[in-house]
Amino acid sequence: MDIKALLSKMTVEEKLAQMSQFNSNCLDKDSDGGVTGPARSLSLTEADIAATGSTLNFKGADEMIRMQDEHMKQDRLGIPLLFMMDVIHGFRTIYPIPLGVGASFDPDLMKRLSEMAAKEAAVGGVQVTFSPMVDLVRDARWGRCMESTGEDKYLNGLMAKAAVEGYQGDYSSKYNIAACVKHFAAYGAAESGRDYNSVDMSEYSLYNDYLPAYKVATDAGVDMLMTSFNLINGVPSSGNEWLLREVLRDRWGFGGIIISDYNAFREMKSHGFCADDYECARAAFKAGTDIEMMSNCYIKFGKRLLEEGIITEAQIDESVLRILALKDKLGMFDNPYRAASAEEEKALFLCPEHRALAREGAEKSAVLLKNEGVLPLSESVDRVAVIGPFADVGMIGFWSCHGKESEAVSAYRGMCDALGEERVSYAKGCDTASNAKSDEALLREAVELASRSSAVVLCLGEERNMSGESNSRADIGLSDAQKTLVREIARVNKNCVSVLYCGRPLALADIIDDMPACAVMWQPGTEGGSALANLLLGRCDFTARLPMSFPYTVGQAPIYYNRTRTGRPAHDEHAIGKMYSSHYLDCPNGPLFPFGYGLSYTAFETSAPEVSKDSMNADGSLTVCATVTNKGARDSAALVQLYIRDVVASRVRPVKELKGFERVELKAGESKVVSFEITSDMLSFKDSSDNDVLEAGEFHAFVGLSSDEKRAASFRLV
Ligand code: BGC
Repeated sequence: MDIKALLSKMTVEEKLAQMSQFNSNCLDKDSDGGVTGPARSLSLTEADIAATGSTLNFKGADEMIRMQDEHMKQDRLGIPLLFMMDVIHGFRTIYPIPLGVGASFDPDLMKRLSEMAAKEAAVGGVQVTFSPMVDLVRDARWGRCMESTGEDKYLNGLMAKAAVEGYQGDYSSKYNIAACVKHFAAYGAAESGRDYNSVDMSEYSLYNDYLPAYKVATDAGVDMLMTSFNLINGVPSSGNEWLLREVLRDRWGFGGIIISDYNAFREMKSHGFCADDYECARAAFKAGTDIEMMSNCYIKFGKRLLEEGIITEAQIDESVLRILALKDKLGMFDNPYRAASAEEEKALFLCPEHRALAREGAEKSAVLLKNEGVLPLSESVDRVAVIGPFADVGMIGFWSCHGKESEAVSAYRGMCDALGEERVSYAKGCDTASNAKSDEALLREAVELASRSSAVVLCLGEERNMSGESNSRADIGLSDAQKTLVREIARVNKNCVSVLYCGRPLALADIIDDMPACAVMWQPGTEGGSALANLLLGRCDFTARLPMSFPYTVGQAPIYYNRTRTGRPAHDEHAIGKMYSSHYLDCPNGPLFPFGYGLSYTAFETSAPEVSKDSMNADGSLTVCATVTNKGARDSAALVQLYIRDVVASRVRPVKELKGFERVELKAGESKVVSFEITSDMLSFKDSSDNDVLEAGEFHAFVGLSSDEKRAASFRLV
């Protein structure tokens, strides 16, 4: 398609409509929409609707085809709509939430899962997913932890790249869809972990910690980027000229589409940044946002801004060309339905291959926190009680698109399928709500069942809507009813594993001692129960590690491993500090379970690391290596992690930062040497003006099994 020729035929109104996106129910006359329905509140005209460029939130292939048909009849120039959707961890076959996939430390897994999601979404009529979300998060109160791959920029970057590659591929297949990295920028740093709250941070921290993962996604060729709801240092992202023009466009060279978040233009009024919709349009235009999601400021005021000379038609054209270019790249002008197909939906949704991959995802995401000889359960275990508010629920989590809880395998179902129904029993134990109080009858039934069972699988945590957008929590512990259940069951049966379903790290200090074993399943998706059974029975091992620190208590938030050093450090991060050191009176500084931590059914050990030479120069490299040994009786895979500390620098650097990891397969008793090459790009940092700084001096390299590793080898950059 000659998109420049097409552009030359468009009126200003048509261009502004391309730059606007509305919910499908605003456009769909058959769903009580159109100008008589939800669109009325946006005062959209028939002409606006006829020329609209894209839509979001629709039901699948049939609806997409019907809407596109309708649209093609109305659109004067025959420009197809783009259909976008939040395909965050699967379309119909749901895999673990991104925080879980983060725990796998396996970018290839993320890529394969994203490919699967793209395939189902494509046949469901989607051409753009609002994913990956790469917001760095250090505060577990924030409900959207679940959408992020965690607290580390390096891991987030690898996962972002893998997701972009999985979704987009090279667009050679009709099953590839465009990706949209979000939420630019620093949305995960919302003050107090409260969603939509303001972000105020130094440019030093933005450049070093918060921006890198978005940059990895733009470097990987992501075609779209979404602005965030929050302020950054006093300016909302959608109207932030510095962020979008200077950093994103000019410095990073991002040439894709910038879309706002849902209604974020008009929210600039609530922020107190714009007086009215006209000012919202002006701020967003000046900042360079190409598509306005779910509000009408561009449509209503774009022309006036043009007539007043505040924007130029060339600016509008630039945005419209980007949008037309994506439609062209996706082949929409040749086939406006692209891959949408109700038959293919039937063939692909929940097909055995997709279920198997979702199961693999759930197995590789689960983290074993504690195991006092409870696991693995014996294959010949006779009476297993699956107890708890989440024991018989399909745990697919927030943002589960078209996934259905009823199609997901619960823990109880998974254990029944694995062992046979006659060996497995169920009791609910207590209610699901976060403020649930114990129900005596449910509790008694559960304790009684536990007392006559040989093993107990206790399914606890958070229900679907306790994490996700706008679902922040000030208390991130288990409910009182769940804690009572844990304690009462521990009294009658010590062969009990607590299984946690959660969209964030939970604060477990007051209950972990009552749990003989504890595993985190996150929100595992469609095949959660089958994955759980395989893990608990030792048919596969726990290989995932924490992508976020689990605090002792919510009072430690934000807590993350790569903090900067204070002048009065605590002598021991795991003990209560001394007077006049930086400490709490009532809690250690460090987390209960650190980033990178997780157990397996065997015990791994690493030797103290050694460097190949004492120094390197900026063009050179050196190697750091350690021996990793499987000390246990089972074959398994260790996740060996490399962290580096810059000992003295002109800006204070973190205590350590993850710079690499390797999964090492080891037979029982086997040892292998793991080595990492250190190059100077791993030693540099950003100054407050976004320049790379590389300073000579001493560095420490840690090689170990979590971010808590203390042994380091020293070397110098000369
Ligand atoms: C969320 C975005 C999402 C958008 C569209 C917003 O509320 O913040 O992440 O992509 O809605 O559904």
